[in-house]
Amino acid sequence: MRAVGVTESKIVVADVDRPLLQPGDALIEVRAAGLNAADLLQARGWYPAPDGWPADILGLECAGVVSAVADDVDSSLIGRRVACIVGGGGQAQFARVPASHLLVLPDDVDWVTAGGLAETFTTAYDALFLQAQLRTGDHVVVSGAAGGVGTAAIQLARRAGAVVTAVTRDARHHEELRDLGASYLTTTANYCVHAPADVVLELVGAAHLELVVNHLAPRARVVVIGVGGGGAQLSLNLLSLMSTRATITGSTLRARSIDEKAELARALQRDVIDGVGTGAFRVPLAAEFDLADASSAYEAFAHSGKFGKIVLTLK
Ligand SMILES: NC(=O)c1ccc[n+]([C@@H]2O[C@H](COP(=O)([O-])OP(=O)(O)OC[C@H]3O[C@@H](n4cnc5c(N)ncnc54)[C@H](OP(=O)(O)O)[C@@H]3O)[C@@H](O)[C@H]2O)c1
Repeated sequence: MRAVGVTESKIVVADVDRPLLQPGDALIEVRAAGLNAADLLQARGWYPAPDGWPADILGLECAGVVSAVADDVDSSLIGRRVACIVGGGGQAQFARVPASHLLVLPDDVDWVTAGGLAETFTTAYDALFLQAQLRTGDHVVVSGAAGGVGTAAIQLARRAGAVVTAVTRDARHHEELRDLGASYLTTTANYCVHAPADVVLELVGAAHLELVVNHLAPRARVVVIGVGGGGAQLSLNLLSLMSTRATITGSTLRARSIDEKAELARALQRDVIDGVGTGAFRVPLAAEFDLADASSAYEAFAHSGKFGKIVLTLK
């Protein structure tokens, strides 16, 4: 099968063996697969796939049709349209995944949308609701707001009755972010918020968190999800943390156990996937590339200024 890998630090599309099913698995014939920052890190040799996932095929999310299942998996899944996060191997003609991680798609979700939704919506959902315990009326500050996770988070938070401030590097996508549900818009360079934050979804890193950490509401919850744009070393006034009784936490999705990811998939299936079908939740598309042109897709991904996802498609 054709798959996206890395040879001598270059993105290549090569012929590799199809994945073998393990107990509990489903095999997906992939129709679309999103790019994520972690793929770029892996391509640069900084973020290897966790044990049990292909070390040589990129891709943390994909969507397609279930073409086979292991003997211990419900065979009625065969033929269903699904999306999922994977620990690696999503950018290929076929991908294997524990069947418990599948998100079964409504008929009206197109493949490009489906290919770009699993990693971003799962990450944003987990951070906002399971870690930050988001409540109606909370003021949520989302940094890196024009990217995949940010655009998902704005929609999820808004739908849950929160008020969202979206922070971007510059102002070029502010109107689109308002359309997604952001009430307030600001930039990292001219940071200005209308009210203290109850929840901060930190997608940029220390350079942004240093700005917001001095504007926290009592009992604020800060969840650090990405540090790629702003670094990992934070200078923090502990007295302000004490006086607000704020908590700062962080997480990664990729290395979680099969059971933890299955629990998240059930929550997404229950709370999010129908909304993608009705159009209540959107996956803004920055660009679509054929799998054969994966190197151009990665080149585009590495550039600043995109709005939403870059997705590979397979015919
Ligand atoms: N912990 C986890 O499990 C997990 C899961 C998924 C993603 N992540 C991480 O979360 C972050 C966001 O993911 P994503 O998929 O949304 O990425 P993305 O689509 O590439 O979006 C990143 C956004 O951050 C902005 N940004 C980058 N550097 C910046 C800086 N120095 N100042 C201000 N804004 C900056 C980008 O703006 P420009 O376009 O202007 O550069 C872009 O809008 C990434 O670091 C990713 O690795 C973590």
